[in-house]
Amino acid sequence: MLYFDHSATTPIDPKVLALMQEVANTHFGNPSSIHKYGQKARAIIEKSRRQIADALSVKSRNIIFTGGGSEANNMVLQNLLYSDKKHVITSSIEHPAILKVLKHLKNFGISYTTVPVDKFGMVDPINIESAIRDDTALISIMYANNEVGTIQPIAEIVKIAKNNNVLFHSDAVQTPGKIQILINELDIDLMSFSAHKFYGPKGVGFLYIRDGIKLYPMIIGGGQEKKLRAGTENTPGIAGLGLAMELAVKNQPNAQNHLQILENHFKNKLAEIYPDAIYNGHPNLHLPGLVSVTIPSVTSDMLLVNLDMKGMAVSSGSACSSGTVKPSDVLKAMHISNQHNISSLRISFGKGNTIEQVDKLIEAFDEILKKYNRKK
Ligand SMILES: Cc1ncc(COP(=O)(O)O)c(C=O)c1O
Repeated sequence: MLYFDHSATTPIDPKVLALMQEVANTHFGNPSSIHKYGQKARAIIEKSRRQIADALSVKSRNIIFTGGGSEANNMVLQNLLYSDKKHVITSSIEHPAILKVLKHLKNFGISYTTVPVDKFGMVDPINIESAIRDDTALISIMYANNEVGTIQPIAEIVKIAKNNNVLFHSDAVQTPGKIQILINELDIDLMSFSAHKFYGPKGVGFLYIRDGIKLYPMIIGGGQEKKLRAGTENTPGIAGLGLAMELAVKNQPNAQNHLQILENHFKNKLAEIYPDAIYNGHPNLHLPGLVSVTIPSVTSDMLLVNLDMKGMAVSSGSACSSGTVKPSDVLKAMHISNQHNISSLRISFGKGNTIEQVDKLIEAFDEILKKYNRKK
């Protein structure tokens, strides 16, 4: 099998897995216990927090562990229930862990404005500024999109938030190991991360919370995570997350270069066999190695199934259920026609992919398009 779906999830780095196994086997104590077993588990959790803080040049006290990216996003948005101001500004291409949460919270007095994006999936900061109201509490804009990879003008948006005394949150789940993440430099208030997107384990992530921001817990019980997230900590997962983040940030320049080479190679080779391919997302300001491509002569579900039969995993933005293909909401928001929408695939390369594997993927495309006589 060849795996080209790293934006969905990544395999665990062997070093991370070895650490998690050791922690699960040996350091199984409850981190809240007083005895040595507990002390060791507590030390492992605090080491992970330091690793993350050092990698992101922030303080350990600013990191709160969560059960992943969705939970971190939920924690930020659900806190609006306790805020005097109850309006949020977000974009039309956020992950469902933002957009569906806001739709839900609408039933409980939260209102929100979704600013549009242009044909590249880019938010215009001017639209954010003009959406600000007296009761705006939060602006939540993702750092980079998971379907088309477009990197948002975060620095400008943060400036607007600061000038208007509004908190700024960013879902940065797709960025570690691919581009540099600037938290202090940009003066970010809140930022969500998830380990399984950067060769760490699933079901664990964290929320960065700037000093001085007071949040209420979403999960209440024991006093873990400074009373912000109850529940006995997932020590092996947290240990894995810390190491995965350290490795992701340390190797980021090399990884970025490698992913860009794979992406360029794929695009050059595809042009030789199918010159009519259309690429979605911003041409330059996008995550390296994430390719959203429209092959107008075939539907993405047909390509995806045929690639799967050849042992190659890619993804489509459109969701297929009960025989009908539902167009991707992200591509729709980018004003991509329905016909092109349902012919779009996402190929996301990872650190383990090679040029030879990309060549095999191109060969597979060639065979499938020939088989269905859809070559241009
Ligand atoms: C941009 C973005 N936000 C949030 C999430 C959800 O993260 P998790 O799977 O850790 O809950 C994902 C994962 O698909 C994502 O791509």
